[in-house]
Amino acid sequence: MTIAIMGAMQEEIEPLLEFFTDVIIEEYGANKYYKCRYNSHDIILAYSKIGKVFASLTATTMIEKFGAKKLLFSGVAGAISSDLKIGDLIVATKLCQHDLDITAFGHPSGYVPEGSIYVQSDSELLKLSRDVAKELGISLKEGIIATGDQFVADRKRKEWIESRFKADALEMEGASVGVVCQALGVPFFVLRAISDSADDDAGVDFDEFLKTSAKNSAEFLAKMLEKI
Ligand code: ADE
Repeated sequence: MTIAIMGAMQEEIEPLLEFFTDVIIEEYGANKYYKCRYNSHDIILAYSKIGKVFASLTATTMIEKFGAKKLLFSGVAGAISSDLKIGDLIVATKLCQHDLDITAFGHPSGYVPEGSIYVQSDSELLKLSRDVAKELGISLKEGIIATGDQFVADRKRKEWIESRFKADALEMEGASVGVVCQALGVPFFVLRAISDSADDDAGVDFDEFLKTSAKNSAEFLAKMLEKI
């Protein structure tokens, strides 16, 4: 079975490449895809570039061109919930698009006709993450992740996202990957480690903690892969 492993930035997939063997790089759709092996799995690994459009393209390509049957996303996020600190891991139970807005037509934020406000993560992958966290003695928060084409560095925007979507963390790709996977019938899972708190200091914190937090997330994902 081919498993897709995806990040948005090079820093998010680099720590994963260290675990994988037999790497062959294939270019497609102006992006690089790393075909590799890990234990008995065929892996297709890529970073999409930042944002929902690139993430959707990459997720679709991994499924339609490379035949991925499950998709796991690893990366960093801004914290909303006050109990999430830099470096902490959060797994999405469900995700939404905080910047999807046709409220002018009376629809709720994050909703378009024939869609849904939230997209649900795969329950088996969620359970696996719980089991791995327990085995490793690691604290793994579960919660709602909000996605948008916006780096949030503003307390008011963060509070709005929290109140509207009950979100615990935010980032720029997860929900779009979820929408693609749901439409194409592929179980998916989004794991993030906190790089900042989406407040006035977010830009500085992000630059400082991107690499270490991305590594936390990648290492946990590699442990999960051992058990799939
Ligand atoms: N990813 C990590 N931190 C983020 C932030 N503050 N806003 C959007 N995406 C992020």
